[in-house]
Amino acid sequence: MTRRHFSGQVALPLLESWVDNSRMGSTLARLAPSSSASAVYSANYKAPDLPEPTCARPGVVSDVPRCMAMVERVIAYYRNLSGRLDPVTECLRLASGKGSPQVLEVLAQLAPPWGDHAIASVYAVLMPRQRRKRLGVYFTPPHLVEHLLHRMRAFGLDPAQHRLRDPSAGGAAFLVPLAREMASTWLSKGVHPREIIARLRAQLHGREIDSGLASVANALLRRMLAGELRISADLVTDLSVVKVGDSLRIGDPSDGDHELSNPPYLRLAAAGQRQWKKHFSDIAGGRLNLYTMFVRRALDQIAPKGLIGHVLPASFLGGPEFSAFRRRIMQLADILVLDVVEKRKGVFLDAIQDACFVVLRRRASPVDNLPATTASSGVLRHCGEFILSGHAALPADGSPWSLPGNDPIDAAKLADYGYRGTVGYLVANRQSHLLHRRPAKGRLPLVWAKCITPNGLFDFDRGRNAEKAGGRGFVTVPKNAAYVIRVPCVLVQRTSSNSQSRRLTAAAVPKNFFRHYEGLVGENHVIILVPTRSDAVAPERLAAVLNGPEANTMLSRVCGSASISVRVLENLPLPRPRSEPPVVRGVDEKSSLP
Ligand SMILES: C[S@@+](CC[C@H](N)C(=O)[O-])C[C@H]1O[C@@H](n2cnc3c(N)ncnc32)[C@H](O)[C@@H]1O
Repeated sequence: MTRRHFSGQVALPLLESWVDNSRMGSTLARLAPSSSASAVYSANYKAPDLPEPTCARPGVVSDVPRCMAMVERVIAYYRNLSGRLDPVTECLRLASGKGSPQVLEVLAQLAPPWGDHAIASVYAVLMPRQRRKRLGVYFTPPHLVEHLLHRMRAFGLDPAQHRLRDPSAGGAAFLVPLAREMASTWLSKGVHPREIIARLRAQLHGREIDSGLASVANALLRRMLAGELRISADLVTDLSVVKVGDSLRIGDPSDGDHELSNPPYLRLAAAGQRQWKKHFSDIAGGRLNLYTMFVRRALDQIAPKGLIGHVLPASFLGGPEFSAFRRRIMQLADILVLDVVEKRKGVFLDAIQDACFVVLRRRASPVDNLPATTASSGVLRHCGEFILSGHAALPADGSPWSLPGNDPIDAAKLADYGYRGTVGYLVANRQSHLLHRRPAKGRLPLVWAKCITPNGLFDFDRGRNAEKAGGRGFVTVPKNAAYVIRVPCVLVQRTSSNSQSRRLTAAAVPKNFFRHYEGLVGENHVIILVPTRSDAVAPERLAAVLNGPEANTMLSRVCGSASISVRVLENLPLPRPRSEPPVVRGVDEKSSLP
């Protein structure tokens, strides 16, 4: 296991002092990855054998959260002003050093990348909420940008030499740091500023669908060149690296050796699906998502051997609907890096998101019959530490990619335990007219996710009395409804929250319950594991295995998202079932009865 500690200062007391210290050559030294802004990060995945956090420099530990908190303070000022302030005007004012004194005071305390992040985020909160969601306007904070750059450099990215692009540029989270590095390198080699601007025009390209955001991005870029690198304002005034346009509709602009981006994340609605499916038929398994389309476009448009570094939702790593996507990108590219962000909360402003980094190298031509392969993989932790934990395993057939760890020897699957999985039938908000507080003829118990206690007990009352259920523990059921479960089974929570210690929380529904009721119905946030044969392992034993450390570690390796799919669960490598009598762990039949 290799560790890289991010170091260096993130926030400096005043913008002026940063500018003074950072003229010309020293800028690059400050921003180089070894001395870069620190990193915070997500996904519930834990690298094997992680010790307690030991951050090299306590300053880094507090700096990223502090910078995040300061950005939040700026944003808090604007939250209620959406619709009352024009986002472009306000952000251009901030970029030129004008605005409310209390906001400017906070901005002055942030290092330039964080200040840019704050200004771009002001744009995001001032724009109409629906539009923000539809375009996926959630920006990449500087420490994530730095990490991706660091990983790509190791595979040959050289900003001073290569043509680079971001087709979903937003507030230029990637383009400003790249321009800073390019221009600083050239300045230190004596290149004339006029030539630097010409090179930036030729080598750095962004596209953004929102014209206001594109103008803010260009303003931030010009501000950096003039304010930090002291390039004459006359020279930078016409520079517009970010063009306005829809990157999915542009043919083949061939403007990049490499691409760095955080594309928009949005699952297409039915109409969008119909519109785009034929163009993306080779990656469309389930519903298309905008980010998979951006990755696929990059694999057509970036030069062969070029690198594509993206920040993506981690759910594609294991989700069954991404099987075609995983298979196809492996045919088109070498997967070089797969890192996960440690936490899903507090990374992206206004979004809770399990995220990962991928770095792909486009193949010269597609390879159809591939063997399984691996990618360098690690975890970026909240304290700024990057832990390189080994190699992720990438099966070529579209099966889930798994993060580093030890596979159980002689693993079994759910079928070996004698079970299959099914998602709870009832969607409570759509079928609320069927729900009741009391039992009666024609009604059966409805099991909610909260019926599964954190320590693996089945507690019917806990579920029905939880806030969502509001006491509604029974459901009207037609005679012989196929979705009624009439045998002892195992319940699994379909989604986990950050506060849970385990991703998998399971509980056996004991025989006793079925002596009182002739069956049960699952609510949609529950997966029910149902025995398929008479010699199936006892539900109590299976629940204990699922609540155990091996199953949880395996799940974290193959499922990057907060929700668990039946397919992932059915294919999860589990310890082989033992033949000894069931160990009843965490189940108390009496207390679970109504
Ligand atoms: C997740 S944000 C990332 C922005 C920036 N790259 C960053 O990392 O902070 C995605 C951006 O893509 C833009 N976008 C969405 N659809 C687009 C499209 N079809 N063409 C170009 N840009 C698009 C959004 O407006 C948004 O600014």
